[in-house]
Amino acid sequence: MNPTLSELEAKATRQKAAFGGDAHIVCDNLVRIYKTEGVEVVALQGLDLLIDKGELVAIVGASGSGKSTLLNVLSGLDVPTAGVARVAGTDLLSMSARDRLRYRRSVVGFIWQQTARNLLPYVTARENVELPMKLAGLGGGAGARRERAGELLELLGVGDCANRKTPEMSGGEQQRVAIAVALANSPQLILADEPTGELDSETSEQVFDALRKANRELGVTVVIVTHDPLVSEQVDRTVGIRDGRTSSETLRRADAEGQIIAEEYAVLDRVGRLQLPRDFMNALEMERRVRLELESDHIGVWPAREEPSDD
Ligand SMILES: Nc1ncnc2c1ncn2[C@@H]1O[C@H](COP(=O)(O)OP(=O)(O)OP(=O)(O)O)[C@@H](O)[C@H]1O
Ligand SMILES: [Mg+2]
Repeated sequence: MNPTLSELEAKATRQKAAFGGDAHIVCDNLVRIYKTEGVEVVALQGLDLLIDKGELVAIVGASGSGKSTLLNVLSGLDVPTAGVARVAGTDLLSMSARDRLRYRRSVVGFIWQQTARNLLPYVTARENVELPMKLAGLGGGAGARRERAGELLELLGVGDCANRKTPEMSGGEQQRVAIAVALANSPQLILADEPTGELDSETSEQVFDALRKANRELGVTVVIVTHDPLVSEQVDRTVGIRDGRTSSETLRRADAEGQIIAEEYAVLDRVGRLQLPRDFMNALEMERRVRLELESDHIGVWPAREEPSDD
């Protein structure tokens, strides 16, 4: 017997719900279109991404590929045009203004590249960390907030900056204080958009170590957008974004001798689409179409040029 329309719909909904299962971050066919002066820019064009709770993930990609757009969506700052975006069970497309505020205050913490954007200039590091707790009405009384702020600064290696005002700290110290601010309300997820972009390599390393500490010791999921190889080579997973889609993933694991092995994969979406690396395509002059051949353990991809000659 043929299924009824409602049975088909129920099946489709079930399959949809199953994608990503209980992943901490689920982006399914995420689309973000910006309209400015009648021109449309498709910043995210059907992006799929799954991140588990407690992962430390780097996002890399060319300028304009959609990295900041993705982070803005995940932080609840921006609302996508279509698709699914879910963090810790919260649907980021359908939440009310009130839920959005609660989400931004206590589920997610954000660190900008521009150090000046992360902290208030006229107050001390400790007061900067206390502020989000005060705003959210969390963290108990003033004494408890003060204590927690001190502990977080200590954990991130900037305990000695507690009583310094923002201009009295280096860029790297400010970014580590910014991580403490982001952690103040015990978020489940920290998002950082090029947090080391304005820093030299030594200072970058300290900021990255602080993020890693938040991840390892507090169990917070951390997603870092970065151009910095120092950062992207030290995480377990690097996700590459190209033209508004996840295109590649590099997974790192230790082999038997403890050497880190990096393996690069192309991302395959649910209907079988994948992006070939641009340099591979250029090397074999592949364009428009390719010939595929199924082998017992792999699929061959050949350029579809003229028919092979006999010699
Ligand atoms: N507010 C906006 N209005 C219109 N277009 C935008 C807006 N924000 C981003 N875009 C466009 O969306 C695309 C993706 O931008 P996005 O900022 O996400 O890139 P990115 O990967 O973060 O780049 P970068 O590495 O330079 O920071 C770009 O084409 C950009 O011009
Ligand atoms: Mg950006």
